[in-house]
Amino acid sequence: MPETEKVIELAKRRGIFWPSYEIYGGVAGLYDIGPVGARIKNKIVQLWRKIFVEENSDFVVEIETPMITPSKVLEASGHVENFTDPIVECQKCHKIYRADHLIEETLRLSVEGLKPSELTNIILQKGLKCPSCGGELGEVRNFNLLFSTTIGPYAGSVGYLRPETAQGMFTAFRRVFESTRERLPLGIAQVGRVGRNEISPRQGLVRMREFTIMEVEFFIDPEDKDVPQLERYWEEGFHVLFKDAKEKGGDPVRVKVKDLVSEKLVVNPWMAFWMATASRFVKSLGISEGSFYFEEKLPHERAHYSSQTFDQIVKVMGEKVEISGHAYRGDYDLSRHSRFSGEDLSVFKKFDKARVIKKRSVILNRDRLRQEDKDFQRELMKLISDKKPEEVEIMIKAGGELMGRKLSDFLSVIEREEKEHGIRFIPHVVEPSFGVERCLYLSVLNAYREKKDRVVLSLPKEIVPYHVAVFPLLEKDELKERSRKIAGELKQKFEVLYDESGSIGKRYARVDEIGVPYAITVDPQTLNDGTVTIRDRDSWEQIRVNEGEVLQVLEKLFSGADFNMILGEAKR
Ligand code: ATP
Ligand code: GLY
Repeated sequence: MPETEKVIELAKRRGIFWPSYEIYGGVAGLYDIGPVGARIKNKIVQLWRKIFVEENSDFVVEIETPMITPSKVLEASGHVENFTDPIVECQKCHKIYRADHLIEETLRLSVEGLKPSELTNIILQKGLKCPSCGGELGEVRNFNLLFSTTIGPYAGSVGYLRPETAQGMFTAFRRVFESTRERLPLGIAQVGRVGRNEISPRQGLVRMREFTIMEVEFFIDPEDKDVPQLERYWEEGFHVLFKDAKEKGGDPVRVKVKDLVSEKLVVNPWMAFWMATASRFVKSLGISEGSFYFEEKLPHERAHYSSQTFDQIVKVMGEKVEISGHAYRGDYDLSRHSRFSGEDLSVFKKFDKARVIKKRSVILNRDRLRQEDKDFQRELMKLISDKKPEEVEIMIKAGGELMGRKLSDFLSVIEREEKEHGIRFIPHVVEPSFGVERCLYLSVLNAYREKKDRVVLSLPKEIVPYHVAVFPLLEKDELKERSRKIAGELKQKFEVLYDESGSIGKRYARVDEIGVPYAITVDPQTLNDGTVTIRDRDSWEQIRVNEGEVLQVLEKLFSGADFNMILGEAKR
């Protein structure tokens, strides 16, 4: 059985995730997250919040906006027109495939972002047939991935499930900006469900039709390249496959954050900041630096709104999966929403000191103009209405005339000094975006170990479903009572799984499989000398400690102490 299959089997058996509506045969791309999965998922979201929001709380805030989105918003964002994937239908059995994936899988060609006509040509040239019946494939066409609905009972009121949370942040930008004292940079974060009508989702949690996204829309002044917040990451590094290397079939190279910025490998320093933050987050899921890299997208591979994109790719169990996307969205979204809504979404930047600027303006000699006929007056006004003062000045200097009359008799251009206190501009946006279920799936794959024919899920402590299990060794009332008391006390500080039934071996196996790092067992010796055992998930080693010290020992273990060290201390 391939390793990923084993993980999927484990996930079903232990309540991590499974296909939704199973009793009716299931629906591709829809998954339930089980009781253990929900705990791990919540931890992942908490960890993301800590790293992306809390640690940057002086400039990042979190909001919540609806899933249901009026058509107008997604027309403005370009999704109604552009959020598509190419599909191709078999003319014989009428099965529908995602055209680019079909070509990539069968012909091993990279065709991401090619146009439908280009994909059709490849299919014709290479003689690609339907993999299931061998029939002829038709023309490739675009399929829109938005799920549509109506808002209320009126058929004309079209709405969609949002395909990303981002549009909620763009449409709320002005309110959030005003309520957070009108300062840039400003990060607006959101965690929420999204819907994408993916064409043929067969990859479990990797390609779902409804999933959870955690993203930050980070609004900046593109002129302001001073990012003191980058200091904390300056010397850190990670692997990046740059677009030039990628085109030549090259490999990712390790770069430091300071080089990304000083060599202008990123279009804005904040891109490096969020990529470094994403690296930290992925490492805290237990995925080591050698197991992920950023891949720069080629222009035709990028989404319609992006001028630079890096996908963060995780390599685990022979799979390569995008865990996050980092896009420089520029002023695309706010400009489009400004245009479509008619609202001004620009912000005012006050200069430190008012700037004196020289301004030319056209002066009309009205007394002189009044002496002329109406036709001439109208024509003169028309002439200057769409011209800059500089252009009018050139015409006057060149001795220009209108209807046989000299312009200089009616017009002059003067220069004046004016004070400018600031300017208005549309902020640019950097967007780091993570899929939560992909984080869950990749963390579980990455933590999966087999030890002596048993499974151990070596999740990092930050994302374990429970901190500690408490078991009575035997089904005896005194042991159960004592165990329940210990469990109750530990619950004040830790997340506890209490289990009193079945053989102790099976209970250990169960907690190993869901990743609980420690198990406390109350055995007959406890009744004599008040000691219990603490068992370590990864080494299966045990130490005996006094009942009264359990809490302290656990606190040490959760603040970074090594189990073997504590084991050594206990033996001494
Ligand atoms: P892909 O190329 O894999 O379709 P994408 O580039 O469209 O993904 P983004 O729009 O950048 O993905 O979405 C941000 C993140 O959301 C991705 O990095 C990924 O973690 C997650 N994601 C995207 N599509 C899905 C999906 N169908 N199921 C689960 N997670 C997804
Ligand atoms: N601490 C008891 C046992 O491992 O069985």
